[in-house]
Amino acid sequence: MNPIVRPRRLRQSPAVRRWVSQTRLHPADLVLPLFVKEGISEPAPISSMPGVVQHTLDSLVEAAREAIDAGVGGLMVFGVPAERDEIGSGATDPDGILNVALRRLRDEFGASTVLMADLCLDEFTSHGHCGVLTETGAVDNDATLEIYGRMAVAQARAGAHVVGPSGMMDGQVEVVRAALDDAGFTDVIVLAYAAKYASAAYGPFREAVDSALQGDRATYQQDPGNLTESLREVRLDIEQGADIVMVKPATLYLDVIAAVKQTSDVPVAAYHVSGEMAMIEAAAANGWIDRDRMVTEQLTAIKRAGAQIILTYYAAEVARRLG
Ligand code: PBG
Repeated sequence: MNPIVRPRRLRQSPAVRRWVSQTRLHPADLVLPLFVKEGISEPAPISSMPGVVQHTLDSLVEAAREAIDAGVGGLMVFGVPAERDEIGSGATDPDGILNVALRRLRDEFGASTVLMADLCLDEFTSHGHCGVLTETGAVDNDATLEIYGRMAVAQARAGAHVVGPSGMMDGQVEVVRAALDDAGFTDVIVLAYAAKYASAAYGPFREAVDSALQGDRATYQQDPGNLTESLREVRLDIEQGADIVMVKPATLYLDVIAAVKQTSDVPVAAYHVSGEMAMIEAAAANGWIDRDRMVTEQLTAIKRAGAQIILTYYAAEVARRLG
């Protein structure tokens, strides 16, 4: 037996493998999510996300600077308010923690990075849902839209280059786009969390934002078994003016990323979420997997599937490693 065709030829050395590598991560692909908490004087660790913290305004700026210096594509900011109410007033208040943080980051970094804001009410509501509730406790789609419009404008005024509507309310992209345009923010980019699944992988995020959520988000986030529904959500969001569409979580939904990539003519993003990180960290802490290799492998798989933008808590670390 003497094979003529030998695929192993192209795997023979690091140099050859590097030369024929089809999927390369680049620092600019990576977006770092950051949490900023109101009223704390020291950064607070998040136990289920080792290395990730709830920032003070000052430590937020430092972490942002390090990530920008490492070459990340941008920052996605989440606010953790000291007080919450039924309607999430802190989200639209110019003095709400997220808007204060955006203003600070925009003053500090201007257009040298891409500043993104999570546009959702769950961090700001006392019940932890992504929208306001009806008298019977259901999430009220249309009443929520009106608040999302105002929230988008508040974030744009505070300096966000990008708003990321993530509440999975019907019509959210259309309302946000119209509100931004009416207020003169025609250049503000809408990154739509278009295909967002009701996933167990957001568990650690609840700790990260001190969420009070009772129940689940199954009436607005998608059922994990549904693929076609994602294509519909993506199509609607693009029709409504989304500039970028996102799939979330990432590694459990690589087929969705691939299908969305095939059917969309806008950039596709994916969010490697808190639980995806926590699973890596927990296994690595037990010595069961090689953490750095697993991180690289997962991010590479997400890019290979078709996501050109990856939101990941590993963004700064990996960008530095890619250096
Ligand atoms: C909504 C939002 C969530 C995440 C990002 N934006 C929570 C949710 O939808 O339940 C989760 C991100 C993560 O788990 O890392 N504000």
